[in-house]
Amino acid sequence: TRRITVRDIGLAKERGEKWPMLTAYDAMTASVLDEAGIPVLLVGDSAGNVHLGYETTVPVTLDEIAVLSAAVVRGSKRALVVADLPFGTYQEGPVQALRSATRLVKEAGVGAVKLEGGKRSLPQIELLVESGIPVMAHLGLTPQSVNTMGYRVQGRGEEAAHRLLQDAKAAQDAGAFAVVLELVPAELAAEVTRSLHIPTVGIGAGAECDAQVLVTTDMLGLTGGRMPRFVKQYADLRASVGEAAKAYAEDVVGGSFPAAEHSVH
Ligand code: KIV
Ligand code: NA
Repeated sequence: TRRITVRDIGLAKERGEKWPMLTAYDAMTASVLDEAGIPVLLVGDSAGNVHLGYETTVPVTLDEIAVLSAAVVRGSKRALVVADLPFGTYQEGPVQALRSATRLVKEAGVGAVKLEGGKRSLPQIELLVESGIPVMAHLGLTPQSVNTMGYRVQGRGEEAAHRLLQDAKAAQDAGAFAVVLELVPAELAAEVTRSLHIPTVGIGAGAECDAQVLVTTDMLGLTGGRMPRFVKQYADLRASVGEAAKAYAEDVVGGSFPAAEHSVH
């Protein structure tokens, strides 16, 4: 089996095929999702919140993403693995972006990287793509800008909508192979999707996007806390894991585990 490539992703849009993307931060989860046929796995910097316990994605380091990315690549066979460039590892300029992305490609073996921004990240996108590293752009709500933008719906109002569309076109022209649209009005996401020849990947961006992405622990019901309305929960793993842990604890305290069959003599 060969891995999915960014070329396959482009062809899917030509054929009008929608596709799912999910986040993964470890080899075991990556293998489950890969075997389930998820074609694109994102080592998102959402790992900062979900996996590493930070308040935001801002503190996530390149070293952390490199370790998690290598695990996801080792755990998967078929999926295209895309890694987020963390905050502060590409904003200084294209050379910094190339150095960071090159590490993720060479050390971790990812097939592409994702970075936040359209126009503001154009020189970075151009140099990475020229250098042979596929880039996914991330527009709309960009969590690395929480300190300037907060977590709000983006692209509301004519001017903001126009700016987002121009950002998406600029990212495409710079060579991006796909664009994530996070928390964008569905009508605007639909217009962006029609206007681009590269795929849009929506999260809270309506049904017209070419692809969808969710944070895996959110859709599995594992994250805990209040979920944004765009999350659909496909399992209730937090309850299952909690119940399993309680049952195990009771068995240990009550002396019913280990039983004879769990023991060697
Ligand atoms: O970090 C992440 O998980 C992401 C997706 C939500 C697109 O950037
Ligand atoms: Na991210």
